[in-house]
Amino acid sequence: MTLAELLPSTGCSTEPVLEDGLWPDGTRIAGQDLVIGGVPATQLAARFGTPCQVLDERTVRTRARAFRAALPGVEVVFAGKSLPCPEVYRWMAQEGLSLDVSSAGELALARAAGFPAARIVMHGNVKTAEDLKAALEHGVSRIVVDSFDEIAQLGALATRGQEVMVRVTPGVDAHTHAKIATGVEDQKFGFSLASGAALEAILRVAEQPSLTLVGLHCHIGSQVKHVASYEEAVRRMAGLIASCGTRIEQLDLGGGFCAPYLKGDTDFDLAGFAHRVQGALNYECALHRVPLPRLLVEPGRAIVANAGVTLYRVCAVKESTRTFVAVDGGMSDNPRPALYGVKYAVRLVGRGGKAKPVTVVGRHCEAGDVLAEDVLLPGDVHAGDLLAVPATGAYHHALASNYNQVCRPPVIAVSDGVARPIVRRETEEDLLRRYV
Ligand code: LLP
Repeated sequence: MTLAELLPSTGCSTEPVLEDGLWPDGTRIAGQDLVIGGVPATQLAARFGTPCQVLDERTVRTRARAFRAALPGVEVVFAGKSLPCPEVYRWMAQEGLSLDVSSAGELALARAAGFPAARIVMHGNVKTAEDLKAALEHGVSRIVVDSFDEIAQLGALATRGQEVMVRVTPGVDAHTHAKIATGVEDQKFGFSLASGAALEAILRVAEQPSLTLVGLHCHIGSQVKHVASYEEAVRRMAGLIASCGTRIEQLDLGGGFCAPYLKGDTDFDLAGFAHRVQGALNYECALHRVPLPRLLVEPGRAIVANAGVTLYRVCAVKESTRTFVAVDGGMSDNPRPALYGVKYAVRLVGRGGKAKPVTVVGRHCEAGDVLAEDVLLPGDVHAGDLLAVPATGAYHHALASNYNQVCRPPVIAVSDGVARPIVRRETEEDLLRRYV
């Protein structure tokens, strides 16, 4: 049953308090404004326009630190694809994290950020010759190989002991959306543990004189809620370490740590992860009598998702079978509802009041361009209102497109009352520059 059916003519109000955990740390309601990183949302919208992606620097840094503090001795690698931006990569470098990149393009951003090559890992199920050459030229510390073709190609291109990890499919179901589940068989990533391909890949790497195997890697999926999924992955990976007969110094468990999107969603249990995963690894390695590898993790979403808020301007309200509230962005800045059925919270900035269920839609030429279905907004919502959508820091800037030749929004960093663009708004000039 939809919210609209449950609340035909609702008497409830929009909530005067912010939902726990969804918004950047310290976000508050002051008067009727929403203050993010010390800067009122109305000011941000007036100064930078809408749609506008706001990113709270302090929240990003705090989350990055939390990973390092919870996991001492573990190499924490920021998943650069979750928020590709040189300034964000710089914050990560300052916080002592490593960085993973999955293309020459992401590597170019890392270089622009001056990210230390010794802390860069390259990933991807397909790395083109250009990606591999860029990685070798820049001297990235480790490359995670994902196919036999790639092992041969990298072996031929590398000249001096390039360190590699082998991406393994451990056969672990992380209970997440099928499109972001990568630990199971029958998807494109990794070498299957069950089929013996992973063991074969380890041998093939060993045959390449220009490559040095330093570790094994797995990434069981994204928006993973349960520590038990990682424990299972560790057990299986430790079994492989024991059976491969080669010293494995590093075990990379990938990313995937969930972030809250809606009221009631919980944060990932990082302390539980630290305790249980290291415990499982200690136990398995002792059992198999193999040296303990150093752990790596690759969080993206859990660091940046809740640091981000997107501001939209309402352009039109249409009453039909339901109330459609149409905004000046949509699936070009947030395709996640269309791709994965993700639901978002929405808040009107500027007033509260008696609420009614509405569907917030975008400006694109598709019926599926829906940002949030059945959310409560003040009943008098009208054109010109400002809406704020939390939990939009991860995979929003990254997935944005120019669909309908709509220019991509800026990313505005806020911190201690100061706002500054770290990605500028795209212009029609930018669009035209590519056309021949
Ligand atoms: N490591 C590897 C090898 C990955 O492929 C990914 C994400 C991560 C780490 C980081 O995962 P995270 O901690 O952010 O969950 N576009 C989708 C998410 C795709 C994830 C791709 N790989 C979304 O918007 O939900």
